[in-house]
Amino acid sequence: MLSSLFSLCALVLLVAAVPMAKLDKRAVTPLSSTDLSSLAPFTQFARAAYCPTDVLKNWSCGEACSALSGFQPTLVGGDGNAVQIFFVGYWPTQNTVVVAHEGTDPTQLVSDLTDVNILMDPLDTSLFPGVSSSVQVHDGFRNEHALTAPQILTEVKKLMAAHNTQSVTCVGHSLGGALAELDALFFTLNLPSSTAIRAFTYGTPRVGNPAFAQLIDAKVPAFKRINNEKDIVPIVPGRFLGFGHPATEIHIISPGNAVSCPGDDDATDAQCTISTVPNVFEGNILNHLGPYEGISIGTIFCT
Ligand SMILES: *[C@@H]1O[C@H](CO)[C@@H](O)[C@H](O)[C@H]1NC(C)=O
Repeated sequence: MLSSLFSLCALVLLVAAVPMAKLDKRAVTPLSSTDLSSLAPFTQFARAAYCPTDVLKNWSCGEACSALSGFQPTLVGGDGNAVQIFFVGYWPTQNTVVVAHEGTDPTQLVSDLTDVNILMDPLDTSLFPGVSSSVQVHDGFRNEHALTAPQILTEVKKLMAAHNTQSVTCVGHSLGGALAELDALFFTLNLPSSTAIRAFTYGTPRVGNPAFAQLIDAKVPAFKRINNEKDIVPIVPGRFLGFGHPATEIHIISPGNAVSCPGDDDATDAQCTISTVPNVFEGNILNHLGPYEGISIGTIFCT
């Protein structure tokens, strides 16, 4: 036992002594069970966004709504077709305004995002004032976000004033995660600098280029993107197409076991999605739906 411990130490020292620059495998941090379970309400918000608007309006969407009792939705919109379903409301439990967007059929999403003719465009500076044209995002995400951004911003401002809160929380899964990522930057640029903006996204595809990812890193420090096991959605569109994720991935490796990954997805961090899902053939699309610590997300889980 002692000798094997010794050789393990020797191995660690040996590995540590090898120059790492080439591989750039950065260390990950295991997530504590408290931190992991603290994500549950946001997972439920992301799940609720898949429910029909009539049951979101009176917050009677089944398990997800029950888990978030007291939440007060004030703006519910979209049709799940031309416009993804979304809701905005006030959550007294954490004294925050919550904005959530629905995702989409993952198989369709992956097929759209593996299209090599995928387009990237600069952000619309009327929505994202001051952002350089070198910052580019997937044009489909950009256009979808623009459909609801102005009315959502108006509602968020109204709720912040009505409840005297400086906290805004953006949530979404899949395409909804991409919209939440755009929202987080959008709110940062359009709300007072005293506003504390958080984002929790689940199974989010890459939204934009590395310049966009760096802008999220700089402007939205309270950003977390949570990925489940071998989900392939987070690895599309490919980095070879010029896309890149911002920092702070939380990777659920198996139930109860997650790591916090350092940096943007520009290095092969052990145990993070970039290493565990090297290509779409080695992943599993079913992992996209979860369960994220016991909570599955998708149209069929709105019960
Ligand atoms: C909420 O709205 C739905 C759909 O309109 C309705 O069926 C349900 O009874 C309502 N629930 C409550 C608690 O008001």
